[in-house]
Amino acid sequence: MGIEIIGIGSYVPEKILTNAELEKMVDTSDEWITTRTGIKERRIAKDTESTSDLAVNASKKAIKKANITPDEIDAIIVGTITPDMSFPSTACFVQKGIGAKNATAFDISAACSGFIYGVSIAREFLRSGIFKTILVIGAETLSKITDWEDRNTCVLFGDGAGAVILRKTDSQSDILSTYLGTDGTLGDLLYMPGGGSRNPASQKTIKERLHYVRMEGNKLFKIAVKKMTTAAQKAIEIAGIKCEDIKLIIPHQANIRIVEGVANQLKLPSEKVFLNIQKYGNTSAATTPIALDEAISQGKLKKGDIVVLVAFGGGLTWGATVIRL
Ligand code: ACO
Repeated sequence: MGIEIIGIGSYVPEKILTNAELEKMVDTSDEWITTRTGIKERRIAKDTESTSDLAVNASKKAIKKANITPDEIDAIIVGTITPDMSFPSTACFVQKGIGAKNATAFDISAACSGFIYGVSIAREFLRSGIFKTILVIGAETLSKITDWEDRNTCVLFGDGAGAVILRKTDSQSDILSTYLGTDGTLGDLLYMPGGGSRNPASQKTIKERLHYVRMEGNKLFKIAVKKMTTAAQKAIEIAGIKCEDIKLIIPHQANIRIVEGVANQLKLPSEKVFLNIQKYGNTSAATTPIALDEAISQGKLKKGDIVVLVAFGGGLTWGATVIRL
């Protein structure tokens, strides 16, 4: 018995924010953003659009492709750091939104690695036989926790959602391996200090702009290359495959230079590395499922191909998975 992606879907908000528009908001330039990050534009959710709205749209597409009914879904796992509310979980809102009345639903907070953490948990549920069909989502509205006056961070992030439906089947498809890691001692390199139990919302936290992402990009950059490379290598080793067997690697889309660094370390040619950062920026947990959906719909991946997903983010967290489609 293997595990098959029987449906995949993604959704990004309509509104596009270009580098030229950002030039009018903060002291930056298209040239700086493009050469330092590879990003040209990103999508921004409406004021009325929450993370679960994006997740529901992506999930409906995945359900349609899977040709199943929502009541066949046994569990919903949402990776997000921009939940609709502290509680209920965003996964509960998704359950309501798609009408998956038989599903257990919960969120995972692992920043940009959230989708891969979700796939890893789903894999074990499916292998144990507890569940047969699981919806795993990476969804974010980072625009809502971005400080639009901070040029160090506001040029990087965007909104979006990607969803896969995993099912235990007797096909050759399988999640061959997953590998996860965390280093909580470096949590202060990327975090949002306000709004939780440490700094509950108050006039002071708002005045001090604590409800926005804070990041030490330069330090993170080097760790990201190292950890994403190691995670991919470990997942490849556990899967028992060689780098030559990989059709495509889908790295977390945080920065084109991080992706190039990882590809160099893994000695993977650029045609084996999927990139869409230019269109969406860093959508945290949503980058890898959105990219996987696009790679499949562009014909870059087909049944039987081996794809590696690898991510790194706040926590710090990292993870990789090797999937035979
Ligand atoms: N426009 C123009 N100049 C800028 C901008 C901007 N938007 N932002 C920063 N600068 C300036 C800085 O002020 C600095 O100026 P100075 O030299 O006068 O002090 C200069 O550009 C260089 O700054 P660096 O931070 O050294 O630039 P760097 O090359 O490291 O690029 C970046 C910054 C893009 C943030 C990069 O470090 C990066 O991508 N880091 C990793 C981010 C990441 O992986 N995050 C984890 C995942 S995200 C998640 O989990 C949600």
